[in-house]
Amino acid sequence: MLVFSVMTHSPDETRELGKLFASVLRARDVVLMTGSLGAGKTCFVGGVAEALRVKGHVSSPTFTLLHVHEPAEENRLPLNHFDVYRLDGADDFIDHGFDEISYQDGITLIEWGDRVREALPDDVIELAITFGDDDDERVLRFLFPKGRENDGEKFRRLLDGIERRKR
Ligand SMILES: Nc1ncnc2c1ncn2[C@@H]1O[C@H](COP(=O)(O)OP(=O)(O)O)[C@@H](O)[C@H]1O
Ligand SMILES: [Mg+2]
Repeated sequence: MLVFSVMTHSPDETRELGKLFASVLRARDVVLMTGSLGAGKTCFVGGVAEALRVKGHVSSPTFTLLHVHEPAEENRLPLNHFDVYRLDGADDFIDHGFDEISYQDGITLIEWGDRVREALPDDVIELAITFGDDDDERVLRFLFPKGRENDGEKFRRLLDGIERRKR
């Protein structure tokens, strides 16, 4: 398991982080996202979607629970974007047949994913977003599970590269 945190200072930075993060994702990956309303979960997903080059505008699937974004180019992965805030736990998730959707070839990101954790695979990547001291500050804490530490390291090296270029 590998855990580390990154601070962002604007929505753009959070989106850029999402774009970088996408480069270590593979088919069937499930990302469990937590963070209260306005934390920046949807903003981050927007960056992932841009990097994956999928169709459609990213917005919180608050009422429909799931937005499937098909790839805009051949040989790319679709994005399953969930917001399960309104679901009644893991059983509800399974009753909707959602556990099978996430296992199809694609990338799945789940806002409020801790509410359905029992229905998700054991090896999810976790992202917890919390508010910083200033209005536009956010702390993004990534957890890469056992077996995915290498991807976590790769992501961290990409982040370090960006930090160095800024200086
Ligand atoms: N560093 C930041 N990262 C992401 N969003 C930020 C940041 N600073 C301010 N914001 C604002 O916070 C809000 C995040 O909204 P959104 O991504 O929809 O959150 P969530 O999906 O977690 O409810 C947006 O209004 C965005 O402009
Ligand atoms: Mg949202």
